[in-house]
Amino acid sequence: MNHPIRVAVTGAAGQIGYAMLFRLASGQIFGPDQPVILHLVEVPPVLSALDGVEMELEDCAFPTLAGVVKADSDHLEDAFADCNFVICVGSVPRKAGMERGDLIRVNGPIFTSTGQAIQNAAADDVRVLVVGNPCNTNCLIAMANAPKVPRDRWYAMTRLDENRAVTQIAKKSGQPVTAIKNMNIWGNHSATQFPDFYHATIHGTPVPEIIEDHDWLRGEFIETVQKRGAAVIQARGASSAASAANAALDTIKSIITPTPLGESFSAAVCSDGSYGVDEGLIFGYPLTSDGNTWKIVEGIEHDDFAMEKFNATLQELREERDVVRDLLPE
Ligand code: LMR
Repeated sequence: MNHPIRVAVTGAAGQIGYAMLFRLASGQIFGPDQPVILHLVEVPPVLSALDGVEMELEDCAFPTLAGVVKADSDHLEDAFADCNFVICVGSVPRKAGMERGDLIRVNGPIFTSTGQAIQNAAADDVRVLVVGNPCNTNCLIAMANAPKVPRDRWYAMTRLDENRAVTQIAKKSGQPVTAIKNMNIWGNHSATQFPDFYHATIHGTPVPEIIEDHDWLRGEFIETVQKRGAAVIQARGASSAASAANAALDTIKSIITPTPLGESFSAAVCSDGSYGVDEGLIFGYPLTSDGNTWKIVEGIEHDDFAMEKFNATLQELREERDVVRDLLPE
């Protein structure tokens, strides 16, 4: 058995947290030889619910669960002390009729203190995944408030979009989800995101060569993926939880595992200026990992249609950044 790692989850008693914790504790994500100490973080009014979550975690008798720490969000430095991963789920979720951007001034301020506490208290190798919306810009705020934490440690989640897009392509083509690779999501986790079907493949062949209905790809496909979060809210009366938790865990696995040759995965990371994106924006890119850090996949060419989509999501992220300028120390 290795030395235990510490993994903090904010919003741990919420639906996404609940769907995530047992899989984190079970060895499924970090492997059977990697003990995990879970830090469950919640706002004070729901702290007592964490007692129940802790009891249930104990009652699973997971061999890889090496401990549970409960902490309240008024004491974030205690919450994140020595953590190797911080998964930021806690935020006010979107309700029917709202766009994710509507949450920006509600949730943004939470992420200034989150960033400061990560810098002050987390482990030197901390990696942070922001799930709470608007996740790209929340991640930007946290990162900007933690200037000593290297820029390659910050991620916002676009994997849910990738997974949604994979399933739409699988259904349309009649092929299994495992046949679909490199379903890159560019830009924002929002209704402007660009699910790049051009460079995705089915059994190694580009999607547009197999799915001949290009109107569907350019229209219904993109729109379905962009608006899936709203469709789930409409149907469930609450925003997606199990699928969001699953995508967060998929992201962690992709970050800690070397990416198979020729493949990529989607996450939003701090732009180094690649593809003309403003340096420092948290932008969804196709990535590869060496198990430790990431690289942006280079050399992808976009046609006019794709460029229009790319620029729309880039523009939205610039506007989001401008709305929270006061939360971004220079
Ligand atoms: C989702 O994509 O389902 C989540 O980001 C929730 C939302 O607000 O859409």
